Amino acid sequence: MSTPATTALPRGIKHVEQLAVEGRRTFVRVDLNVPIKDKKIKDDARIVAVLPTIRHLIERGARIVLASHLGRPDGKVKPEYSLEPVAVRLAELLDKDVVLTDEPVGDGARKVVGDLRDGQIALLENLRFSPGEEANDEVFARALASYADVYVNDAFGTAHRAHASTAGMVKFVGERGAGYVMAKEIAVLSRLLDDVERPYLAVVGGAKVSDKIEVLDALLERVNGIAIGGAMANTFLEAQGRSLGTSRVEKEKLPVARNFLRKASERKVTVYLPTDVVVASSLDDTAGTPVAVTAVPADQMALDIGPATVETFRRICLDARTIFWNGPMGVFEKPAFAAGTVAVARALADNRLALTVVGGGDSAAAVAQAGVADRVTHVSTGGGASLEFIQGLELPGIAALAEDE
Ligand code: 3PG
Repeated sequence: MSTPATTALPRGIKHVEQLAVEGRRTFVRVDLNVPIKDKKIKDDARIVAVLPTIRHLIERGARIVLASHLGRPDGKVKPEYSLEPVAVRLAELLDKDVVLTDEPVGDGARKVVGDLRDGQIALLENLRFSPGEEANDEVFARALASYADVYVNDAFGTAHRAHASTAGMVKFVGERGAGYVMAKEIAVLSRLLDDVERPYLAVVGGAKVSDKIEVLDALLERVNGIAIGGAMANTFLEAQGRSLGTSRVEKEKLPVARNFLRKASERKVTVYLPTDVVVASSLDDTAGTPVAVTAVPADQMALDIGPATVETFRRICLDARTIFWNGPMGVFEKPAFAAGTVAVARALADNRLALTVVGGGDSAAAVAQAGVADRVTHVSTGGGASLEFIQGLELPGIAALAEDE
């Protein structure tokens, strides 16, 4: 860890190292919302990320109560959303017992927490099994707080949610602070809000304009250039009068896209859209053909950026001195349409002079797939949270940690 995390925290927020946790029930909100299929964890990065905070608490003899959500079970108990596979993986990584409670709050959970000895760990069952979590219900928040003498938030990925475990309960616990993940995320992402080294380039991809238009608008105030890829680029290209065949296009967002392009030109922010794309007749095709965006056949769809666009995006990535990347350039989970996304990952890694920050699960997966995760400055554990942070928005999970001054 490069910067001493404690120095970079906003005023009034303590670091976990500054909290008196010895022998005390220390409630740690973590984001263990990991992809799981058939009870198997597909990517354990978020579990690995919180190990330093947990190890610190074990060493200090805290009684550790971990709490997380998993997926969106909508306030109902759904066994496929149980944190059990996570508890098993955590126990393996720590080489230590992790007791999973049978429900997030209730008699069983209270007993498990009450029985904890110094250095032992309990994990509450999926917080979103209770409707009180997302509703930020006070009764639920007080129930969670009743398990805590000290509160630590290490769930940066969920810091943009004002839920009972991230916001509501905090005021009911005497002492609070940020864990290592939270502190590092705040330290690095804050650098994107300060006086950044320029050119500052944002590379934004993914499926929908509607998901990202707010962040795109906010980025216009901060960056020098925005490169857009993925299916959302199709909508911008159609807004410029191109015909994209059977590509996914959000017709109702064409005016929004036009408006954005106009604002960008007024603010002198360069928008880089694909000049060529890789097309195929369906998502199931195992190979695609590169064509200019002016020549997309009527029965084909764009599934990746093309080689000329890859060249341009690589060049602007190498010229930039600050880069934030969120969202894939194509359907990168299919090898035939992964080249654009992997090329962006490599371009970030090859720029040794820039501050390079990757946010969002897909982009983080692409950086890992390209084998360059250790050659970018920072891979954020947050998707939506990192997008909100770099817009300069206040995140409820961070705001709640500040002590009243
Ligand atoms: C995430 O994966 O972005 C966080 O865990 C938040 O999940 P949510 O979008 O379901 O609130």
